[in-house]
Amino acid sequence: MSHHNDAQKLTVPHIISMKARQQKIAALTAYDALMAELLDQSKLDIILVGDSAAMVVDGHQTTLPITMEEMLYHTKSVRRGVKRALLVADMPFLSYQPSLEEGIKNAGRFLKEGGAEAVKIEGGKPVIELVARLVDYGMPVMGHLGLIPQSIHKMGTYKLQGKDSAVARQLKREAKMLEDAGAFSVVLEKIPASLAEEITNSIKIPTIGIGAGPHCDGQILVAHDMLGMFDKFKPRFIRRYAELGTNIRNAVGEYAQDVKNLKFPSDEESFH
Ligand code: KIV
Repeated sequence: MSHHNDAQKLTVPHIISMKARQQKIAALTAYDALMAELLDQSKLDIILVGDSAAMVVDGHQTTLPITMEEMLYHTKSVRRGVKRALLVADMPFLSYQPSLEEGIKNAGRFLKEGGAEAVKIEGGKPVIELVARLVDYGMPVMGHLGLIPQSIHKMGTYKLQGKDSAVARQLKREAKMLEDAGAFSVVLEKIPASLAEEITNSIKIPTIGIGAGPHCDGQILVAHDMLGMFDKFKPRFIRRYAELGTNIRNAVGEYAQDVKNLKFPSDEESFH
């Protein structure tokens, strides 16, 4: 591939075509411009401004408290850092549930004000009509099935979904419904690998797995999890590719010691 192609902007049709070409899709989350720029320099296909921002960078216990305005702020920041990857923004809790009209307006704000190229919406049957309307209006949608964190109070815990065969059948139906409504991809979160494989083989749009085994068309993780920065939970599906949390704590500890021991700043770090 030429240098020109490497720098090419990835689009929704390109992401869809990766499935037929059997090219795996690599995705991560980002919430600010600096991290987004670092991720975008590494040949990622999709950058998601996840509502996991609520927990990972805003300090909330669940994803529920984050607002439209806060998600737009994160999305605008990430937009400034991303040139190549497809930029997807997550629709936060209560931004689409009250009515089709609110869902359309809020999705539109992510494209119009945030600079996102698509939105992600949690759930199956309840959001199908909204997904179809958004796609009709030219707003691409990524679905999200299985463990849907905005429903934490209904689920009780962040446990494996779709082990029960009735639930598994429902998830398969909903993946097909999302495809038929025009979604361009669907995130499958924390479901058995065999179920994710069946769903992946039963639809033409790419599945993006997180804790859903190796057979999905792509994988997504929260960047701060795989970088070892966020360690409040350590689900089994996260692989830590770095230990930045430990690096930061060590660096800051050394700095504080140096300040207290008069070792920082040195003569070279001072002006005369
Ligand atoms: O909010 C988020 O970060 C997500 C991904 C982990 C899929 O929904």
